[in-house]
Amino acid sequence: MITKLLDGRLLAKEIKNKICKIIEKEILNKKKRIPHLGIILTGNNNSSIRYVNNKIKECKNIGIKYSLVHLPINTSEKKLLETIKKMNKSPYIDGFIVQLPLEKHLDQNKIILSINPKKDVDGFHPENFGKMALNMKSFFPATALGILTLLEKYKIQISGKYTVIIGRSSIVGRPISILMSRKNNPGNSTVTLTHSKTPNIEFYTRQADIIIVAVGIPNFLKGKMIKKGSIVIDVGIHNHEKKILGDVDFHSVYGKASYLTPVPGGIGPMTRIMLLKNTLKAALNNR
Ligand code: GUN
Repeated sequence: MITKLLDGRLLAKEIKNKICKIIEKEILNKKKRIPHLGIILTGNNNSSIRYVNNKIKECKNIGIKYSLVHLPINTSEKKLLETIKKMNKSPYIDGFIVQLPLEKHLDQNKIILSINPKKDVDGFHPENFGKMALNMKSFFPATALGILTLLEKYKIQISGKYTVIIGRSSIVGRPISILMSRKNNPGNSTVTLTHSKTPNIEFYTRQADIIIVAVGIPNFLKGKMIKKGSIVIDVGIHNHEKKILGDVDFHSVYGKASYLTPVPGGIGPMTRIMLLKNTLKAALNNR
C-alpha cells in the first residue's frame, strides 16, 4: 500500500503566511501593536527548554513579539503565581503560556486556574476546556487544533470514522478526544480514548480508521497493531542515539497505513503555528 505522508511543515508555512498577512492588514495598517506572547518557563527540563526555544524561533520567524520569563528550578509557588498575575494584568501581553510539566512542588491545577482565560492561548484553563467540551467558542489546545487542521488540509473526513487515541493527557489525548467526538465540523467521529491501564490496546487500534498516538513511548505503535489503510497521527518526539523517533514505529507502519505523519515535520510544526494562531486570536479579541 502506498503511504502518503502528511506534511505538517509545509502546511505550517502556509498558515504562517496567512498569519503574516492578517498581522499586516489588521494590525500594522491600523497602526495597532503587534501580537505579544508571554512564555513562563520554570526549571531546567531539557525537553521543555527545547520546546520553548522552538516557540521563540517561530515567534521571531513570523514577527510576533515574545517575552520569556525563565524562573529557577526552586521557584516557589508564590513567585510563579505573582509572575502569572503580572502577565494577566500586563496591557502588552496578549496571551501567555506556562510551559508544562512543572516541578513536583508546584500545584499544576492551581497554576493553570490562575491564568486569565482570555489570555490562555494554550486552552488549558477549565473555562476554555469546558467551553471546548460544550461546543462553545474558546481557545483550543494547539496540538489538537494542529491535528484537525492537518487532516482537513488533506481532505481526510473524520465524520463517521472510528478514531482510537492512545494517551489521555490534558495537553493532547483528552482535548483531541473531545474535539473529534463533538457534534461539529470537524467532529462526529466515534472515539475510543485508550491509556496505560487499557488492556490489549491493539484490540482497538486494529479496528481504527484513524489512530492518534500521544503516549510518550518511542516506536510504541507497530504495523501489526493497525489495519491496512488506516490513518496514523504521531504526536511523539524523542531524541534517541542521535536519531529523532516518534511514538509510531515508522518502518513497520509505513506501507500499511494510507496516511502517516512524519517525525520530525508532522505534528510538531503544526503545534507551534497553532499557538501563534491562538496568540493572534487573543490580540484581535482582547483589544
Ligand atoms: N508541554 C508540552 N506541550 C505543551 C504545550 O503545548 N503547552 C505547554 N504549556 N506545555 C507543554
